[in-house]
Amino acid sequence: MEPRLQRRVQRYGWDKAAEYYEDSWKEQLKPAQDKLMEMADLQPGEKVLETACGTGLVTVRIAEAVGSDGKVVATDLSDGMIEIAESEAEEKNVKNVNFRRMDAEDLKLDDASFDATICALGLMYVPDPVESLKEMNRVLKPGERAVVAIWGERKNCGWADIFPIVDKRVASDVCPLFFQQGTGNTLEHSLAQAGFEEIQIERFSATLHYPDPEVAIMAAFAGGPVALAYKKFDEQTRKEAHQEYLDSIAAYRNGTGYQIPGEFVVAKGIKPNS
Ligand SMILES: C[S@@+](CC[C@H](N)C(=O)[O-])C[C@H]1O[C@@H](n2cnc3c(N)ncnc32)[C@H](O)[C@@H]1O
Repeated sequence: MEPRLQRRVQRYGWDKAAEYYEDSWKEQLKPAQDKLMEMADLQPGEKVLETACGTGLVTVRIAEAVGSDGKVVATDLSDGMIEIAESEAEEKNVKNVNFRRMDAEDLKLDDASFDATICALGLMYVPDPVESLKEMNRVLKPGERAVVAIWGERKNCGWADIFPIVDKRVASDVCPLFFQQGTGNTLEHSLAQAGFEEIQIERFSATLHYPDPEVAIMAAFAGGPVALAYKKFDEQTRKEAHQEYLDSIAAYRNGTGYQIPGEFVVAKGIKPNS
């Protein structure tokens, strides 16, 4: 997919997904976000950049970790996601975050100005993940760290059929390289290509729990990356696509709900001192 088109699909798709996002994914993404926070080991007073911050699930945790002497710049491509993140931060009385709409591949931020750069579950959506990692590297102070979390390999993610199910109904790839960085050593190579050293990689399995078919369907279609295409489906197409998706996850049925296997990769890299 042409990069500008991919950015538009992402931007307006996530605008549509924003209101369903936390109900769909908050619990499911927590293991990856926990590991990311552990590897980042943020300290009070640090200045942190987050790219693809979404509704701010990780942003609030970063803000707490750096405390009132620290600062967070949280960025995302989607206005809808940023709006929710801003209002939730306000509700939680979080004062040390500056939210800005920004493409993760084109950060309007100074070189060497952050103590840590963070990206949770965002790298699958940018047209050029290495470019995005280079930007994370550029804005880091020398000797400091970037930490990213992504989904792992397609074969280890039981919900992966959502992409072909939607793609064949819109005749285009909604998220063409979704599993690319999570496959084999790709993320490690990308971090090295972006200028990072001392790279650490943690790959682990997780289970996505959904209490019933309706929530599993909402998460896959309305609350995630295929939301823009899904909005355009008529009632009949929706019904067929829902059924096909439920068939694809039937093996993970557990009582009235589902326990779907997933895999995450969390990685840390250090910007060299010279
Ligand atoms: C799965 S959400 C992750 C949100 C959040 N980091 C979390 O862990 O809950 C993916 C986010 O990536 C954002 N995104 C997609 N393409 C982007 C790009 N090129 N630049 C910045 N953000 C982007 C979307 O708008 C969406 O908010």
